[in-house]
Amino acid sequence: MDSKVEEIRQKVIKCTKCDLSKTRTNSVPGKGNFQSDVVFVGEAPGRNEDKKGEPFVGIAGQRLSGALENAGISRESIYITNVVKCRPPNNRVPTVSERDMCHDYLQKEISIIKPKIICILGNTAFNSILGGSEITKYRGKIVKKDERYYFLTVHPAATIYNQELITVLNQDIIKLFDLIRELKKGKQISIDIDYSA
Ligand code: URA
Ligand code: SF4
Repeated sequence: MDSKVEEIRQKVIKCTKCDLSKTRTNSVPGKGNFQSDVVFVGEAPGRNEDKKGEPFVGIAGQRLSGALENAGISRESIYITNVVKCRPPNNRVPTVSERDMCHDYLQKEISIIKPKIICILGNTAFNSILGGSEITKYRGKIVKKDERYYFLTVHPAATIYNQELITVLNQDIIKLFDLIRELKKGKQISIDIDYSA
């Protein structure tokens, strides 16, 4: 286990920086392969995640696993985390202040793992990391910002209420891993939105 990622894990487990620490059962640190080419970023833990202390283990997690499997990717090979590491009561969207308090953990996870690309799952991650909104309009697109690549897609939980989004998520995940293969070969990929320009 990478000791630096383990250090963050331990800090998240004990963290009391915001009030979500008072209502959580367990903090939910990121999980997965520290050598992953991609870091997936969701919103915040839900009920199942809060119980288990692991990200994406409920229905949304099943949807994500399904899309990965469909692309021939095992969950063990990638790293998954959230913008906010503790469950907001009743699964409300985490506040800006909660996201700000928790931000440092995500930044550290990314700077240690150094993925080729960061996969943004849904509006909260899109807004927190890139200041964006309307993910359904921008999904499937590649963003470059501060020498980092991002790939935008819908939140797996959105596919529960909208069956058509399963196809969308599946296709996006296939595209994401095609891009990763290109990046690993050292090829240029075409950027849809360049925030550094
Ligand atoms: N939704 C998220 O955004 N993250 C999880 O870990 C589970 C559900
Ligand atoms: Fe700490 Fe983040 Fe949990 Fe708040 S949500 S207590 S900042 S780990």
